[in-house]
Amino acid sequence: MQVLNKKELQQFIKKHQVICGTEERPALMLTPDNQIVKAFYRRKRFSRSTFLPQAKRFVANCRKLLERNVRGPVAREVIYCPDIPVHMVVYERLEGQDLRELCAETDSDCLDILPDYLASLHSKGIYFRAIHLGNVLFGADDLAIIDVSDLRAYNSPLGIFQRARNLAHLLNTKDDKSYFVSYGVSRFVQRYERCAEFSGFRRFLFRNRLRLRLDSDVLDELAKQSNLEGTSDTN
Ligand SMILES: Nc1ncnc2c1ncn2[C@@H]1O[C@H](COP(=O)(O)OP(=O)(O)O)[C@@H](O)[C@H]1O
Ligand SMILES: [Mg+2]
Repeated sequence: MQVLNKKELQQFIKKHQVICGTEERPALMLTPDNQIVKAFYRRKRFSRSTFLPQAKRFVANCRKLLERNVRGPVAREVIYCPDIPVHMVVYERLEGQDLRELCAETDSDCLDILPDYLASLHSKGIYFRAIHLGNVLFGADDLAIIDVSDLRAYNSPLGIFQRARNLAHLLNTKDDKSYFVSYGVSRFVQRYERCAEFSGFRRFLFRNRLRLRLDSDVLDELAKQSNLEGTSDTN
């Protein structure tokens, strides 16, 4: 880990392009050789990040994703400036565009590959807490996750309840709801269930747990579309 004082940090920032945040408090920067520098500021005087900085979790999670063959950031270096205090992680920029931008620029059919991808993350034991369309990149014919400081990597596939909670979190995201509605909430859920190879009682359990976790407006969409398709979402 490289340690910089405040003056050195200012010089470091000057050499980079700030893409998120301000020169005084950059959140995301681009290096001249196309790497990303993400800053993690300590939020409270004493918080979880005092003992286990988010940056360290980010780096550890990058490694866990790599071990499981999941495309994600590859961390190169951690920089620490105790005067602020801030940790910064330098990682490779991935080719592609996030799905939220892609939905806005094209249409929601670009979500077609997401249920399959999510089911495969879950089967690899990845519980990505920060899942939303802005944290999934599409590029090089594949998806990747970014913003990975908040995830758990288990050594076995996720259970049904964890899967339902994670999928509900994705579908409930305020900024993304309209894209899921236009894609079809029921279409999305059914696709996930197919990819996860749920049938019979497992599907029944999954659906029930999902319903408990969905916001009422998303739940209404799920029911409405299931009725239109002439399918029952109770079995
Ligand atoms: N490794 C990466 N490759 C390409 N683009 C990235 C990468 N990391 C971040 N970005 C871009 O920067 C945006 C914000 O990054 P993110 O890590 O999600 O920060 P925030 O904490 O602001 O959500 C993403 O939505 C994406 O467009
Ligand atoms: Mg993000």
